[in-house]
Amino acid sequence: MKLWSKGFEPDKMIEEFTVGADRQLDLQLARYDVEGSMAHITMLESIGLLTREELDTLLDALKDILAMIDRGEFTIEPGVEDVHSQVEFLLTQRLGDVGKKIHSGRSRNDQVLVDLKLFMRAELKEIARSMMRLFDRLQSLSEEHKDTLMPGYTHLQVAMPSSFGLWFGAYAEALVDDMELLAAAYRIADQNPLGSAAGYGSSFPLDREMTTRLLGFHTLHYNVVAAQMSRGKTERAASMAIAAVASTLGRMAMDVCMWMCQNFGFISFPDEFTTGSSIMPHKKNPDVFEIMRGKCNRLQAVPNEVALLTANLPLGYNRDLQLLKDIMFPATVEIRSCLDMADFMLQHIRVKSDILSDPRYDYLFTVEDVNRLTLSGVPFREAYRTVGMQVQEGTYKPTREVHHTHAGSIGNLCNPQIAEKMRNAAKEILPD
Ligand code: ARG
Repeated sequence: MKLWSKGFEPDKMIEEFTVGADRQLDLQLARYDVEGSMAHITMLESIGLLTREELDTLLDALKDILAMIDRGEFTIEPGVEDVHSQVEFLLTQRLGDVGKKIHSGRSRNDQVLVDLKLFMRAELKEIARSMMRLFDRLQSLSEEHKDTLMPGYTHLQVAMPSSFGLWFGAYAEALVDDMELLAAAYRIADQNPLGSAAGYGSSFPLDREMTTRLLGFHTLHYNVVAAQMSRGKTERAASMAIAAVASTLGRMAMDVCMWMCQNFGFISFPDEFTTGSSIMPHKKNPDVFEIMRGKCNRLQAVPNEVALLTANLPLGYNRDLQLLKDIMFPATVEIRSCLDMADFMLQHIRVKSDILSDPRYDYLFTVEDVNRLTLSGVPFREAYRTVGMQVQEGTYKPTREVHHTHAGSIGNLCNPQIAEKMRNAAKEILPD
């Protein structure tokens, strides 16, 4: 039986096609749907659309449903369309006519909107927590290995001395920019759409400030049409933040794969963190980081999927929007699993010391030697030519001394300043 039933049931094939994955996906919204309903009916009582007794009865029944959700016993039954219908169905089953009063002044359109805002807020918070753990890990690895030099490359050719301190620290600082985007997406999600009803408001005198307070939103989407339009825009912002994190992680995964390769051999992991080959007995493969790289590349397609799904939709609710859940829900799970796996793996990373004593890296030091000559008074262009000619004639001998002092360089990583930036970027999304 549908909420909107008017004496006929839809064809079975139509039903399955339009419900799609909702019975499964909506389970993740169940808690937020109940919380949204609690705020809505508390407000309905305050404007005289429910009596105190009716409110108490409904709140008790909703608390029971929350407990059911906590116990993992909540399901969306066959024949029920979505979580919103299931909650209302349970209420009317238990309470009869009182249950039917809950939907005054709202539509499933603003109900699913509020569920998704609450869901997105919670997911973005969890992603931020995982990012913070990885950030802390990268920063402490950066400090631990700040004196271990490694080659720096441009054009994938040996270029200048770098260090593991710089490498780990670089990914930590890249995550700060990603956190800025995540915090922006969080702010966009943190607005109350409830009361926009089907997308054009209601003739009931709804107290939208009250539900905003009750649900802990920092503000509301005032304009009811803008509130409805925020479906898709919220997902777009969140997916762009997720894609930014994925691009950072994907690049790091690529570095790891490359540096685990025997031709580089800069890093390794204990055997139990690698995988083998069915034919080549010696193999210890970096599958974890390959899967991570692949997942992160796929995640960078998500904003595009959201954009294509929502581009130029007619104003107001359109059922296409339902498919946003199919795109976004797995993406939030994937990015967290990649972040947590990166943190787990990095706990076990082994870093090779003394890489630069290998003569194949001698040319890393040419710039250092040009600079040394320049500091002794030789004009830069002349010093450059002197060292260049030595390289050309095969007489260049590196002094192997590295002395970098400026902010952000090998000798002055500025990790505390980067940590301060991260705290600022995350302070709204992770205030605790
Ligand atoms: N499952 C629907 C969605 O996610 C819920 C809203 C249904 N609204 C409607 N007008 N059919 O969009």
